[in-house]
Amino acid sequence: MPKVTFLPDNFDVEIDDGGTILEAAEKFDIPLKHNCGGACNCGTCHVIIEEGGVNISEMDPEEEDTLDRALEVTNESRLACQCRITDDVVVTIPETSRS
Ligand code: FES
Repeated sequence: MPKVTFLPDNFDVEIDDGGTILEAAEKFDIPLKHNCGGACNCGTCHVIIEEGGVNISEMDPEEEDTLDRALEVTNESRLACQCRITDDVVVTIPETSRS
């Protein structure tokens, strides 16, 4: 099963192949905001991909538009609710996305 490591707290969470980073966070009560419930409308589930970017589904135009509204976006930023993973990834939850 793919593993998501959430920084800065260093929580490791395993999820089913094809599950999203947000699903991993919800399943194990990781403090990640998700104000629209995963509908790609709010941008509050913003995470920064530290490792394993090749293991994540590609960004579509809708995610790109919503990500524009997130805070402190970097070149490695993604929306956790839109990232389906097939292998291990490491992500940072920025302070603005912590719940
Ligand atoms: S939860 Fe709202 S965009 Fe991801």
